Amino acid sequence: MLLTIALDGPVGAGKSSVADGVAQKLGILHLDTGAMYRAFAWKALQKGVALEDEAALEALTATDLPEVRYENGEQRTYLGDEDVTGLIRTGEVSAAASAISKWAAVRRRMVAAQREIAAQADMLIDGRDIGTVVLPDADVKIYLTASASERARRRCLELEGRGTPKPYDDVLREINERDAQDMNRASAPLRCADDAVRLDTSSLDFDASRKVLLAIIREKLQ
Ligand code: DC
Repeated sequence: MLLTIALDGPVGAGKSSVADGVAQKLGILHLDTGAMYRAFAWKALQKGVALEDEAALEALTATDLPEVRYENGEQRTYLGDEDVTGLIRTGEVSAAASAISKWAAVRRRMVAAQREIAAQADMLIDGRDIGTVVLPDADVKIYLTASASERARRRCLELEGRGTPKPYDDVLREINERDAQDMNRASAPLRCADDAVRLDTSSLDFDASRKVLLAIIREKLQ
């Protein structure tokens, strides 16, 4: 039986920053499902497909579904032969990914692809609906969260570090907007699975979050 660890939570809770380290410590792969939504949204933007047109987006899933490959244990996200890993972290793609991810037709194809990937190796999978929809029988489910103000503070530091600072109030507003969109959509809204362990990282730094997460997983797997 393969090992599956579901890690869900809102934007900025620290999922992606802790997931790689935790997966490495456990000796398993990490699948970032947000990258798949981002890559698909990037393609829709490239092709000029309207983000509000569910039928056109469904048609796009037939020709341009992203593919995940592992190179030296690290996830790379492809569209056809193009490695788009480095192209999908912009604000424009974040907003587009949030917009396209509300469509059931898009989610169906993504969920199927994610289940196929999870069936190939032991994995830690992060996203919004992993414990609730994609892998309801996951061995361990964790819901990572933090206050919106703390998530905005972290995001500001990250943007500053990248040399692209943004006012705190703008960042907080964007986080609240994305939370509202992710939590209130009809199809697979973001929520904590009933059987998930909820971990609030508001007062934990990166290292502490990773340690607590590992301790929770190890305890669950005993
Ligand atoms: O985790 P992220 O910020 O890279 O995700 C980008 C968007 O994709 C986010 O707004 C919500 C959506 N998403 C989703 O709906 N379901 C997932 N399993 C992963 C991401």
